[in-house]
Amino acid sequence: MKKRTALSAVLVAGGLALGNSALAETPSASMLAYTCAGCHGTNGNSNGPATPSLAGASKDYIIDVMEYYKTGERASTIMGRIAKGYSKEEIERIADFFSKQKFVPAKGQKFDPKLAKKGAKLHDKYCEKCHADGGTSSEDDAGILAGQWTPYLRYTLADMMAGKSHVPKKMKKKLKKLHKKAGDAGIDQLINYYASRK
Ligand code: HEC
Ligand code: HEC
Repeated sequence: MKKRTALSAVLVAGGLALGNSALAETPSASMLAYTCAGCHGTNGNSNGPATPSLAGASKDYIIDVMEYYKTGERASTIMGRIAKGYSKEEIERIADFFSKQKFVPAKGQKFDPKLAKKGAKLHDKYCEKCHADGGTSSEDDAGILAGQWTPYLRYTLADMMAGKSHVPKKMKKKLKKLHKKAGDAGIDQLINYYASRK
């Protein structure tokens, strides 16, 4: 029963009104994913700048991050609590659903073309190896950066750099190098680059 209560809480938090049918013992993947849609948008393309889009992220990326939220390895405002309401099996099915949706870049984000150009160079040097194709690919289970919401990217990177969120060892090294060379301005250039990618 514990799980059902958590699921109901999520439905309320997401502002969704679903019938009891969605709370059946084995809901379908799309029904499970529907409980996330109130915040992450229909099919995982978010309309809110503080909530990331999930569509098109690799299945393993979503599974890993949900696990980090569960254990607290990744800082969160709300996802830690939400992630605890789902079993491994349910998360796998939800992740599979979102990984198969088409990612739509966040709409109407402003960026400075000059900064974006500098950011492109930094990305190629420090980030492209794992965030391939200019950060549009999630093939290496590293999440989509290009076209992701800028405010979300800013605070996620800040949490990662402050040691509040899990960062892969090699990425941590690159982030440190980049920050030593280009400072906070470099981070800003990168963010402008990701916002410029449509
Ligand atoms: C009440 C709003 C809300 C609901 C419902 C919600 N999320 Fe989230 N989600 C967020 C916010 C906000 C963040 C940013 C982290 C934080 O502050 O908790 C986030 C972050 C994430 C991330 C990290 C994305 C990335 O690019 O790294 C994943 C994965 C995720 N949520 C999955 C889910 C799944 C799966 C569900 C449904 C089971 C769900 N979320 C339901 C608000 C929500
Ligand atoms: C060695 C591979 C690697 C390199 C290099 C790398 N990353 Fe990552 N990155 C990852 C992986 C894997 C994740 C998934 C999260 C985790 O494992 O903690 C990730 C996650 C992220 C996230 C969170 C995405 C989300 O949607 O929440 C951001 C932001 C990010 N990386 C930015 C960068 C930037 C900027 C650079 C270059 C300075 C960089 N990464 C270099 C592997 C890498």
